Amino acid sequence: MRILLVCLGNICRSPMAEGVLRHLAQERGIAITTDSAGTGDYHVGEPPDRRAQAAMRKQGMAINDLRARQFTQADFDRFDLLLAMDAENLRNMRRLAPSPEHASKAMLIMDHAPHHPLREVPDPYYGGDEGFDEVFRMLKEASNQLLDGLEQR
Ligand code: 4NP
Repeated sequence: MRILLVCLGNICRSPMAEGVLRHLAQERGIAITTDSAGTGDYHVGEPPDRRAQAAMRKQGMAINDLRARQFTQADFDRFDLLLAMDAENLRNMRRLAPSPEHASKAMLIMDHAPHHPLREVPDPYYGGDEGFDEVFRMLKEASNQLLDGLEQR
């Protein structure tokens, strides 16, 4: 299973999502391939935001190895599941889909946490440190439920 996590800048939410998912999958012994990308190109080549790195390090899930890249149409062929952080990311991804079948691989990551009150992961970029901790908790809930589903297959 190849899973791509997508946000706008690829320096806050999606690298955190990649870090959470790869950590929890490894802990459970589930073999998946993960990557992340941004629909925007503003931060290409940069490491995750310092606040995202700090929030993850605190949880023992370092993400300092990750570098931002832009989402491309080819990602629809490279990945089995494309998980967007918010509805705008999802719209911009689907606009690039080569076919409806490709487009159907893309969904919101919080679709995997149907009992969580929020459907979208809020952009923590312009807020404070606590926003990154909230993002972490949401991503952990969604990732655990996604992995539960993979284990049952
Ligand atoms: P992300 O957060 O999409 O979670 O990586 C953002 C990072 C940078 C910007 C926007 C959102 N920006 O506009 O530079």
